[in-house]
Amino acid sequence: MDTPVTNGFDFSVPAAATIAAPIDALFYSLLAASTLVCIAVSASIVYFCIKYRRTASADRSGAPSENRRLETVWITVPLLAFFGIFCWAGALYSRIFTPPSDAIDIFIVGKQWMWKVQHTSGRQEIDEVHVPLGVPVRLVMTSQDVIHSFSVPAFRLKQDVLPGRYTALWFQATKIGVYPLYCSEYCGTDHSRMHGTVVVVPSEQYQQWLAGANLP
Ligand code: CUA
Repeated sequence: MDTPVTNGFDFSVPAAATIAAPIDALFYSLLAASTLVCIAVSASIVYFCIKYRRTASADRSGAPSENRRLETVWITVPLLAFFGIFCWAGALYSRIFTPPSDAIDIFIVGKQWMWKVQHTSGRQEIDEVHVPLGVPVRLVMTSQDVIHSFSVPAFRLKQDVLPGRYTALWFQATKIGVYPLYCSEYCGTDHSRMHGTVVVVPSEQYQQWLAGANLP
């Protein structure tokens, strides 16, 4: 199965899981808020640098030593904003790590330098993960040697895979297709080659594939 290739600087990432849109909304909101604050602070610095430069004849008398109202505002507004962001991100976080009760399991073992995958029927594969469309899937993952990280950008999925411990997360694919899978934790010489593909197929085809059929 070919890995989809992106040409040059293509910053768009396909979105192929139910969690993608809510995560993008949070990410772009944070980006927009940071950009606004950055522009406001930078513009103020430039403005005051010019206005109160040494040779300027600006009025420097009557500088306030305190301004309770202003201080209250600049403490309260960011505090509330950060609480809001915390609750928003926290709700998303708990959603990512709370698989629905009807999720099917797929077992993943990371090792230098490959992803070994086993499905509930016993069918195994390496560096390729077949998943059904529109069905919640729980990934139960562990490592055979060092720390790896299982990352599927199209699903907005990333989770460290640790030796001696299980980690789990879940997703529900929303688009048929083949999506790149990466190891996103430096794990040795061939870390950069520890990649593969996630293949989203219709649910019936996944059942046939589980039973041993090969897909077209
Ligand atoms: Cu496994 Cu990097």
